[in-house]
Amino acid sequence: MYPHVRLRRLRKNASIRSLVSEHALSLADLIYPIFIVPGEHICEEISAMPGQFKYSLDQLPLLLQKIAEAGVSTVLLFGATAIKDAEGRCAYDKNSVICKALQYMKAYYPKLVLITDICLCSYTTAGHCGPIDADYVRNDLTLDIISKMAVSHAEAGADLVAPSGMMDGMVASIRGALDKNGWIDTGILSYSVKYASAFYGPFREAADCRPQSGDRKTYQMNPANSREAVCEAELDIQEGADMLMVKPGMPYLDIIAKLYQTFSLPIVAYQVSGEYSMIKAASSEGWIDEKAVVLESLLAFKRAGAIAIITYFALDVAVWLKMQ
Ligand code: PBG
Repeated sequence: MYPHVRLRRLRKNASIRSLVSEHALSLADLIYPIFIVPGEHICEEISAMPGQFKYSLDQLPLLLQKIAEAGVSTVLLFGATAIKDAEGRCAYDKNSVICKALQYMKAYYPKLVLITDICLCSYTTAGHCGPIDADYVRNDLTLDIISKMAVSHAEAGADLVAPSGMMDGMVASIRGALDKNGWIDTGILSYSVKYASAFYGPFREAADCRPQSGDRKTYQMNPANSREAVCEAELDIQEGADMLMVKPGMPYLDIIAKLYQTFSLPIVAYQVSGEYSMIKAASSEGWIDEKAVVLESLLAFKRAGAIAIITYFALDVAVWLKMQ
């Protein structure tokens, strides 16, 4: 006890603090989300996400050069379509902007790890994550369509597909379809624990996927629940997931920690659009120090147990880490 015990001894200077530091953030932890839209010469800033853009395919070479220079090794691709329908069938079009982007990236940046979001909300007219019947998403029909989507992405070069619709059986269905088509080495990063969150607001503008009526509470999880998160993750593991994701990020660190203690698969955290926008807004007012807050928030994900973090700050963080 005090006065013999003094924990401040190990905080005395930067070298000692670094010696006893339990966690660290590194370049390899960062996953950068990219929004790809149909059309040409599009590099449009997302109004609620200053510094983040939607790109048409012709803009990708420049962006990829930036990503490579920053040293970020993994990207998460979100697509869009000019033609939506009730079932979101354009999502598995082999000529989708996502498939074309994957082919380009695989050819010119073969070392870049390519992950694609597998969900129908940007492709259905109703803006739900699957075809609906009276505002209720039809689970098993959705599974058929997202499984075809996953196969088309695997064919085009995706290393991992990331189903994000919170449909029951989505991992088993996708794993089955990938294996049946010979894509046994394409992995699944499951959005295992995705909450029905208000923090996705800015993203829905970016991905043009706002539900036209109702909300996503009949498929995404209730923010009140944590035991159910364990159940979701357990099922995904049994169904063949290779990695698990928790989303949103900072308000759900307890969930990351719980999965980390319970399971041994790698866990990815998603620092979502609303988290990005809040940090951006406060720092642009001069109320917080952007760099310090971002680095601290990402370190918190690592401490909670995340192996990697999807963050819109990835390119900035890469530069900051190199300067440290
Ligand atoms: C698609 C999807 C969403 C996000 C990722 N994939 C939106 C949603 O579920 O409504 C949110 C990402 C973010 O907010 O950054 N289902």
